[in-house]
Amino acid sequence: MAVLEHLSSQEAIELENKYGAHNYHPLPVVLHKGEGVYVWDVEGKRYYDFLSAYSAVNQGHCHPKIVDALIGQAKTLALTSRAFYNDMLGRYEKFACEYFGFDKLLPMNTGAEAVETALKLCRKWAYEAKGIENNEAEIIVCKNNFHGRTTTIVSFSNDPVARKHFGPFTDGFIRIDYNNLRELETTMKNNPNVAGFLVEPIQGEAGVYVPDEGYLAGAKALCEKYNVLFIADEVQTGIARTGKLLAVDHENVKPDILILGKALSGGAYPVSAVLANDAVMNVIKPGNHGSTFGGNPVAAAVAIAALTVVKEENLAQNAHILGQLFRDELNKYIANSNIVTLVRGKGLLNAIVINDSEDSDTAWNICLKLRDNGLLAKPTHGNIIRFAPPLVMDREQLMDCVGIIIKTLKTFE
Ligand SMILES: Cc1ncc(COP(=O)(O)O)c(C=O)c1O
Repeated sequence: MAVLEHLSSQEAIELENKYGAHNYHPLPVVLHKGEGVYVWDVEGKRYYDFLSAYSAVNQGHCHPKIVDALIGQAKTLALTSRAFYNDMLGRYEKFACEYFGFDKLLPMNTGAEAVETALKLCRKWAYEAKGIENNEAEIIVCKNNFHGRTTTIVSFSNDPVARKHFGPFTDGFIRIDYNNLRELETTMKNNPNVAGFLVEPIQGEAGVYVPDEGYLAGAKALCEKYNVLFIADEVQTGIARTGKLLAVDHENVKPDILILGKALSGGAYPVSAVLANDAVMNVIKPGNHGSTFGGNPVAAAVAIAALTVVKEENLAQNAHILGQLFRDELNKYIANSNIVTLVRGKGLLNAIVINDSEDSDTAWNICLKLRDNGLLAKPTHGNIIRFAPPLVMDREQLMDCVGIIIKTLKTFE
């Protein structure tokens, strides 16, 4: 069979099952094309994408400005490695530093790599600036966190599926409750070796848990009090998803280290980054850290285009307005529903909780039915369904989606 021969959905699924590692459990739908808020399967059926590649495609599928930047740069110079300078990286670094308000950027590719970078940066700062004894630094993380899949990152996860049989694990992390400032302060007070606090401003993978108002600002104040770096993992929440450029902006918090990925490229290319001011970033010296592809010219061109689109098309404001509308409309339905207990979220990062046990397959079955009705979403953790459409959606499309979701849920009442 020629590689480019047309495949039916069934054939494509069989190929992945036979030749691919089984590290995902996808919904049975085979996508072939995307444009804006829509994706099409190999049989030509159109769907609303309500997951946006886990919030990577905030700017919509195949945004023409981002695709043009990708193609233009790929035809000019794709990769030089960091052994030499290139004429795109500095431009991108200046653009992104001014855009997010930091002194310096360290470019990587995936979200997990950027999280690893932030952890290394924090530890080096701990020894060289804070004065913690070598190998003694601790970083506070939260229960039910999701920061990626590397060995160090799963070391401080409490998800048994993500951890089982991947040990031995990396030391140096203290796990506390999310959304608990008292525990955060006690931990900092009792541990002079705490160097950083790594936190998701909203816990996306865990089921879109929004912390109490004041939590992020309170945590930042504690970090200042105890000379601890506030490390915001905005890989999923950042870049307009929650109705502001960053989710920490809802509480006017400036992280000491900002981690970005996903929508930094609009989904066109793997681009991630860590941003910090000089006092932190300058501890990194040549040879300490790097990546063959991090900061390559294509990534730089794509990221500039992706960030430009976010501002030009007012995506943060659109996410704010449509997110409010989405929750209002679903709340009207939920008031009389037996199958959905609540909707929660910020901007266009939302989730509904299905009224069934966590190990039931009701949420999965609802997602299958949503697919049949032309909308793609997926459960995150058992009975929770995350809804995160591209931010280029308009009001009419959103109301159409609300209609599909409610029509589908009604069949499960
Ligand atoms: C908050 C957060 N951090 C890090 C990651 C890891 O990103 P990647 O899958 O690009 O490694 C994710 C991915 O979902 C995420 O949601």
